[in-house]
Amino acid sequence: MRDNPLVLHVLGARPNFVKAAPVVRALDELGIRQGIIHTGQHYDALMSDVFFADLGLPEPIANLGVGSGTHARQTAALLTGLEDVVLEHRPALVVVYGDVNSTLAAILVCAKLHVPTAHVEAGLRSFDREMPEEVNRVVTDALSDLLFATSPEALSHLANEGVDPAKVHLVGNPMIDSLFAALPKLDPAPVRERLGIDGTYAVATLHRPANVDDPEAARELVDAVLGVAEQVPVVVPLHPRGRQRLAEAGLVNRPGLQIIDPLGYVDFLSLVRGAALVVTDSGGVQEETTMLGVPCLTVRPNTERPITVTHGTNRLVTPASLPAAASKALADGAATPSGELPPLWDGAAGPRIARVIEAWLRGDSLSPAAKGRVQ
Ligand code: UD1
Ligand code: UDP
Repeated sequence: MRDNPLVLHVLGARPNFVKAAPVVRALDELGIRQGIIHTGQHYDALMSDVFFADLGLPEPIANLGVGSGTHARQTAALLTGLEDVVLEHRPALVVVYGDVNSTLAAILVCAKLHVPTAHVEAGLRSFDREMPEEVNRVVTDALSDLLFATSPEALSHLANEGVDPAKVHLVGNPMIDSLFAALPKLDPAPVRERLGIDGTYAVATLHRPANVDDPEAARELVDAVLGVAEQVPVVVPLHPRGRQRLAEAGLVNRPGLQIIDPLGYVDFLSLVRGAALVVTDSGGVQEETTMLGVPCLTVRPNTERPITVTHGTNRLVTPASLPAAASKALADGAATPSGELPPLWDGAAGPRIARVIEAWLRGDSLSPAAKGRVQ
């Protein structure tokens, strides 16, 4: 092993920051040298800076400023930017998170440079290759040296794809570590007051390309959300993607519907904690509502997180079924079918990941192929 090996984390988009914070903190406690590379995939203050502040993440050692673009253009900028930075820093390990384009690009760059990698949130599958994230997940898992799974079904998905089980560790969910760490700060009252919300309310987040990019799909979705707003006031902290398309489809401020900028992490989860209902197409929000015990209706035909349905408060809905599902959820409240929460979603995923990484850096659990690459 090299003296004092460097671990680099590649982060680019909002959910990455939430997943990385507990891992960075736990590696710090073990005294491991590390740094964050921010790709700049997300760059608005409300999509990036606010998360570094809320989650106590250290300043990145580099920001590549890749910004937005088509998949090809954004990925190309990520590849060239990341290659330079990995060659400059020569890390012993690069840690990537989730399923965004920054994750995919980092894995490709490291595979070609023979730099070992770890993937946090490995093995999630929607089995829907029309989702850009599903493509990113499959490629990332195929090329990772260490795979950290958040839920048991991920293990069989990885085994079915021929991933060596010796590389895979079921560690729990670092996004839930962040939620647990924030819990003492999650107070709906000040956010409600700021937004002028009185009484029962719902929160909606919408940003999946399949929902917001196509005008027809956007119209169907907006009609469905208006159907919910007839029953309960709905606050929509809106992701920048599709903002204009959704506005054209009628998602605008009106009685019962409040469209606002994305919220910071603590404000958003505070609002969710006090909500009677969440409507979403987010991945992470399905998990957070399960842990907070808030009913969640996910407007998607599938989920890569089925454990939030079997062990949580999440239900899949279509735009057509959303208003009736909302009415039922508002009447029934939250119920978890199994009565049990997902295993290992206990706030200790970060330390588990850090311990595996520490052992791996020492060479205790290296596969022969990976061993040759760690100088
Ligand atoms: C990305 C991820 C998605 C994740 C989401 C989290 C991919 C392929 N998709 O989707 O899996 O759920 O992040 O939020 O990586 N924009 C801004 N300001 C920003 C960032 C984006 O205005 O700070 C706008 C731009 O118009 C941009 C669009 O949002 O074109 C999409 O951004 P992009 O990062 O390409 O994908 P997301 O939809 O955010
Ligand atoms: N989130 C937030 N403010 C918002 C909406 C979401 O802080 O206005 C947080 C949310 O609590 C979760 C993460 O962002 O931790 C999820 O990110 P997003 O929905 O953008 O991505 P996905 O999980 O779908 O990839």
